Amino acid sequence: MATVLAFANQKGGVAKTTSTLNTGVALREMHHRVLAIDLDPQANLSMCQGIDPDALTRSVFDVLVHREPLEDIIIRSEIDIAPASIDLAGAEMALSSAIGRERSLEKALLAVRHRYDYILIDTPPSLGLLTINAFTAADGVIVPVQCEYLSLRGLAQLERTLEMIRENLNPAVGIKGILPTMFDSRTIHGREAIQILKDNFGDRVFDTVVRKTIKFAEAPVQGTSIMAYDPEGEAADTYRGLAKELLNNLEKEMLNGQSSEHEGRGFGEPLPAYGASI
Ligand SMILES: Nc1ncnc2c1ncn2[C@@H]1O[C@H](COP(=O)(O)OP(=O)(O)O)[C@@H](O)[C@H]1O
Ligand SMILES: [Mg+2]
Repeated sequence: MATVLAFANQKGGVAKTTSTLNTGVALREMHHRVLAIDLDPQANLSMCQGIDPDALTRSVFDVLVHREPLEDIIIRSEIDIAPASIDLAGAEMALSSAIGRERSLEKALLAVRHRYDYILIDTPPSLGLLTINAFTAADGVIVPVQCEYLSLRGLAQLERTLEMIRENLNPAVGIKGILPTMFDSRTIHGREAIQILKDNFGDRVFDTVVRKTIKFAEAPVQGTSIMAYDPEGEAADTYRGLAKELLNNLEKEMLNGQSSEHEGRGFGEPLPAYGASI
């Protein structure tokens, strides 16, 4: 039965899509069966695998809104992809009056969960109904954060949304890890950002830190992951390291029989003012 992980942060440009794809391909290299679901109407994940969203006859939209089987839209690429198209932008509206609107994705996953080891969901830059569907379907959430523009206020808002999801829809969901991305070791700011994350979130911050490199912008142009674009490079190795760290954490959690939730300082206490708010 697949472990379902949502990559989420309501801030755009923090490497959600990049991390979803490359973590997925790294898990695939380790011989796991991986499905990635593109839940962003901008369809960047689909495009990163050379899929033209405008040429699709069916997409995640049809699965969520018309209840078509998820397996019918899956495209086999470096990993299996459930692609998005621009009409997904209308899904929140189309679902808004539907009963069980938060559970559309969870239901769609039921039929395919046994076929995969990991199902990774790429979410749009908002905490709207699409992201809520991802949180409701997920066993856990991975939160990529950009070291350059760290927004603790945004992270607190994300935690509050997850708290509501736990109360109402999915008691098990929590943050599995916070992933610092676009790290530039030459700046004091980048190092400070990691320290602040560790002060606030403790163990929940991954040891893996993704450095800033142009390679991440180049790979999608070729329609490939960083593993296919530059297999021997440091960037590919970073996501391989993240996949290993993630699996270790999940295994530890299973042995302890508890979630990694509520470690670190928590949100009851005031947060230091830092970075841009969203
Ligand atoms: N570690 C990195 N270093 C430099 N650029 C990156 C890195 N990770 C992602 N990018 C680039 O930053 C942009 C935003 O990344 P993306 O994954 O699309 O973010 P999101 O899905 O959160 O909006 C993309 O152009 C991507 O190629
Ligand atoms: Mg994205």
